[in-house]
Amino acid sequence: MADRDIERVLVTQDEIRARVHGLAEEIAASYTGKDVTLVGVLTGAFIFLADLVRELPLRTKVVFVRARSYGAGSRPGELLVEILGRPELSGRDLLVVEDIVDTGRSLVGIKKALEKRAPRSIRTVVLLDKEERREVDCEVDFTGFVVPDEFLVGYGLDYADRYRHLPYVGILSRSAYSGEA
Ligand code: IMP
Ligand code: MG
Repeated sequence: MADRDIERVLVTQDEIRARVHGLAEEIAASYTGKDVTLVGVLTGAFIFLADLVRELPLRTKVVFVRARSYGAGSRPGELLVEILGRPELSGRDLLVVEDIVDTGRSLVGIKKALEKRAPRSIRTVVLLDKEERREVDCEVDFTGFVVPDEFLVGYGLDYADRYRHLPYVGILSRSAYSGEA
């Protein structure tokens, strides 16, 4: 049973589980014998990262970054990327783990910030890709699902910090954010 604020379940819990397993196999095959540092993007990626890291038959480390955009009005502002703690990233193979890519601005900014730390490689895995919304060129190495341009919540994704706990990805009802709920 979907939450009452969900218009439609887009990706079920079983579909996510199967795809995460498949992604882990693809990732493992491309990093054979390597030690990989997973870079989770807070907060949305926390559930995806937790599931992915447990499926990956690789030696891994986990670090987190937070990306915030500063800007006046609707103009896309400057992206501030904060790397939490003081992880050693130089010479490491980094895999950025993100919940969803939309315009692509966050992922591009995060990669740029990580490049300054002189890693050996940077690749990206995203669970959901709103391909048609892309505004900047950003290469995604591993993609879970290509999704339509709808507002999605669940499996880590939020609206005003709610709905992250839902075990599936659903389309949020308009009534849930237009104040009618
Ligand atoms: P981008 O910089 O435009 O690619 O935006 C990516 C970020 O926007 C993601 O990390 C999410 O935090 C957020 N985002 C984009 N689409 C959705 C959505 O449908 N639901 C929840 N968050 C979203
Ligand atoms: Mg995010």
